[in-house]
Amino acid sequence: MELKQKDIEEIFAYTQSQNNKKDIKGILLYEFGNFFQVLEGNKKVIEDLYHNKISTDTRHTDIQTLINYDIKEPIFKEYNSDFNIVKTRAQLDSIRTYLKLNHHHHFSENIQRLLNPFLL
Ligand SMILES: Cc1cc2nc3c(=O)[nH]c(=O)nc-3n(C[C@H](O)[C@H](O)[C@H](O)COP(=O)(O)O)c2cc1C
Repeated sequence: MELKQKDIEEIFAYTQSQNNKKDIKGILLYEFGNFFQVLEGNKKVIEDLYHNKISTDTRHTDIQTLINYDIKEPIFKEYNSDFNIVKTRAQLDSIRTYLKLNHHHHFSENIQRLLNPFLL
């Protein structure tokens, strides 16, 4: 299914409002036909969202899980109290700077690297 700008905006708006309600932290961005998403929060809530909603959503295909790990504190909790929809280069740069400064968490570095292709 080819996504129009309007479809992407709809996914962004819905995701941000729902995730804020469920206290889910993380990021969602879209570039070159690919979404990249980080979801952090209560394990049951995240697993339910992933298995029952996101993975069955026909607006995207070929989903790959890159990191799936139990952590004590969400990495993005200190960044923003809202779930982050990343639409601009400036937002992406700001997230990368934050991740660089939060290198105490080894997943910060992994996420930084995974974001590299979106910076071209
Ligand atoms: C790439 C992508 C990421 C999504 N991420 C979320 C998300 O983090 N949280 C969420 O509630 N819905 C997300 N959605 C939307 C869900 O797949 C689904 O449309 C929505 O949860 C349906 O909810 P409902 O059945 O309660 O209406 C995402 C959709 C796409 C295509």
